[in-house]
Amino acid sequence: MTTAPTTPALPLPARHSGGCPFGPPPAYPEAAATGPVTRAVLPDGDLCWLVTGIAEVRTVLSDRRFSADIRHPTFPLLIAGARELITDNPDFLRLDDPEHARQRRMLTGEFLVKRVETLRPEIQRIVDGALDRMAEGRTTADLVTDFALPVPSLVICLLLGVPYEDHDRFQRLSRTMLNRESTVEQLREAQEEVHDYLRDLTARKRAQPEDDVLSRLAARDDLTPVDVAAMGVLLLVAGHETTANMIALSTALLLDHPEQIPGLADPATLPGAVEELLRLLTIVHTGLPRVALEDVELGGVTVRAGEGVMAMLSTANRDEGAFGGAGHRATDELDVYRDARRHLAFGFGVHQCLGQPLARAELQIALETLFRRLPGLRPAGEREFRTESFIYGMRSLPVTW
Ligand code: HEM
Repeated sequence: MTTAPTTPALPLPARHSGGCPFGPPPAYPEAAATGPVTRAVLPDGDLCWLVTGIAEVRTVLSDRRFSADIRHPTFPLLIAGARELITDNPDFLRLDDPEHARQRRMLTGEFLVKRVETLRPEIQRIVDGALDRMAEGRTTADLVTDFALPVPSLVICLLLGVPYEDHDRFQRLSRTMLNRESTVEQLREAQEEVHDYLRDLTARKRAQPEDDVLSRLAARDDLTPVDVAAMGVLLLVAGHETTANMIALSTALLLDHPEQIPGLADPATLPGAVEELLRLLTIVHTGLPRVALEDVELGGVTVRAGEGVMAMLSTANRDEGAFGGAGHRATDELDVYRDARRHLAFGFGVHQCLGQPLARAELQIALETLFRRLPGLRPAGEREFRTESFIYGMRSLPVTW
């Protein structure tokens, strides 16, 4: 089934090491320099294709000949041995249409730009509250635990109707699920515990509905309790780890480039600055997995039916033709005044991030408010990156003001 490699296949890096801490692992741009589609080895020893060119990444993510169904026997997995954890009911991120579209449609109304715009005052209140607590009576803090994590966590808890008091528990579980170094046993335990937690919560919502997303899902008779729990887990994990790491990384990067901070203060340039941060940081470093359902000609190679591909958003987002140009810095540098709107940090095609209007609103409000309220913000010690996670980010960012 697998095409014989013509050049040595790249073992996919287990964690981020070397190179710029704000960029992807150097192995990916190095592979991109040799061609848009190259060979790589997955942790279990199977070969896959590393798709690094922007046109080819778009094709993989929008062409129905590539499947996102994790139940496919050769779907590429980034943790060796994890295939035994795949259930018959994956969440819709890992399903194809029509089932993917059926479930996603039930949520689109909750995350529409128009709906999210009405949440802005609430998000602003949450951001201000987190900053009040962080700054009260002190002049140093860890920006990750005191600001970047609580803000998206409070927002998604409010929307879903998950009690924020439980955040330590679900944050610990989502960390385990996102950790590429977790053992299969640790993954199984975390997966079971978080599903049980969401199943219990959904049962309570069915009995006593409130004005939140989980109550509305629980009330539907066209979803099983298992489906509702899977959707809840997806939203809870996707809804806070991603945005939290984007807030922390963006702050650290801006502190390294203070001359660009004024780009956040002007309402005319703030949305563009956030798009540039999303583009440059592209926190899903590991790429998006898909499997070919038929033979496909892609970037000069033939991807055979059954072969796995990893669509690398980070290299696509550094394409000079798409994002470079006269008057702008190179695409591996921050330039908050460039037009980065067509970036792929939220993916592309039918699985493109459902929560992007919410993520954008949270990032704009969090970053603008942080630098406005603490104009003297600066680093205060050794920062630590989250190098082992499927979602790249920061473990700590000591700051003072
Ligand atoms: C900066 C923050 C975020 C980033 C960078 C991000 C990135 C992504 C990416 C790359 C995908 C596509 C995955 C694929 O095609 O395999 C995705 C899908 C998804 N995201 Fe996000 N995300 C962010 C925030 C959020 C938030 C706040 C939510 C929810 C409330 C969310 C919910 C989802 C869901 C439900 C999907 C699955 C969509 C589908 O399969 O149709 N994300 N996200």
